[in-house]
Amino acid sequence: MSQPASKVSLTGIKPTGEPHLGNLVGAIRPALDLVKRYESIYFIADYHALTSIRDPKLLRHYTRSVAATWLAAGLDPEQTIMYRQSDIPEIFELHWALSCVTAKGLMNRAHAYKAARDQNAAAGREDLDGGINMGLYNYPVLMAVDILIMESDVVPVGKDQLQHVEYAADIAGTFNHLYGDSYQFKIPQAVIPQEDTGRTLPGLDGRKMSKSYDNTIPLFLPEGQLKKFIRRIPTDSTPVEAPKDPDSSSVFQILEQFATPDMIADTRKRLTAGGVGWGELKNQLFEVLNHEIAPMREKYHALMEPDSELETVLCEGAEKARERAQCVLSSVRSAIGIGR
Ligand code: TRP
Repeated sequence: MSQPASKVSLTGIKPTGEPHLGNLVGAIRPALDLVKRYESIYFIADYHALTSIRDPKLLRHYTRSVAATWLAAGLDPEQTIMYRQSDIPEIFELHWALSCVTAKGLMNRAHAYKAARDQNAAAGREDLDGGINMGLYNYPVLMAVDILIMESDVVPVGKDQLQHVEYAADIAGTFNHLYGDSYQFKIPQAVIPQEDTGRTLPGLDGRKMSKSYDNTIPLFLPEGQLKKFIRRIPTDSTPVEAPKDPDSSSVFQILEQFATPDMIADTRKRLTAGGVGWGELKNQLFEVLNHEIAPMREKYHALMEPDSELETVLCEGAEKARERAQCVLSSVRSAIGIGR
């Protein structure tokens, strides 16, 4: 573990789908980079996923799959803490305590909740809250608890999660104002790794690769399938001999995230000169991608076996996380007048 003085970075991953290349480039790699600068905590937000996933087998599968993906991608459980949110019951106790100091109006203004209401309005439904569960409504409070209970300094998130981190800071501020003589939460700050690096990956339709666009290349496809997916990346009909613009090509943009600087420069030159067809570029992309992914794929599948060490890693992580959580919760209980 890092020196006690180092700041804490916390990342929560919601297990709602199969990992894809965009997750690796946009979220996993930048978050793993933070290990060098912060004491890093990662957890799988399975109770957050419950707001949308009602299939128990699937939820359990996604939860294990997220953990296995991060471990396969290089997360070192010796240097970090990784746990399953649902293994930390202290989170739910603090959730109630913080709900009681959180303004309902704050939740009314939350983007995800407002978007769900807008959808109802657009569909002409009379009840704008129709189909919206309390989990979705309370989601930001639970997320604030995830952040505050680990005394996080920074929270690396995508832009869509910025408001949630601001809410966490806001809720911490209210608590500190009310009970600050006894206990003060740390005020967390969001960091957006994608802006640091400018990395986003185009998907199979040229838009940003994202589960919600259904345009992803899954991370752990068998080789043959990976080849097929790469062939589906759209290209224009420029003939082989003609010069091509690397920067308007999705294939090249994906290659840029995986190839060495020398290979990127060389490929750029060859494309601009003409004589390289899209088929050839796609073969090159496959080789480069597969070279990086093959060892991860193997580790991932080994971890996904029912009796792998995955469960042990998660349980050990939960033990460490609970120690921190119990410490915070006990201070909070004493501050608010709960218990003896
Ligand atoms: N809401 C986050 C997402 O959808 C997941 C998450 C839950 C999270 N709790 C968190 C992220 C705490 C950072 C910190 O991506």
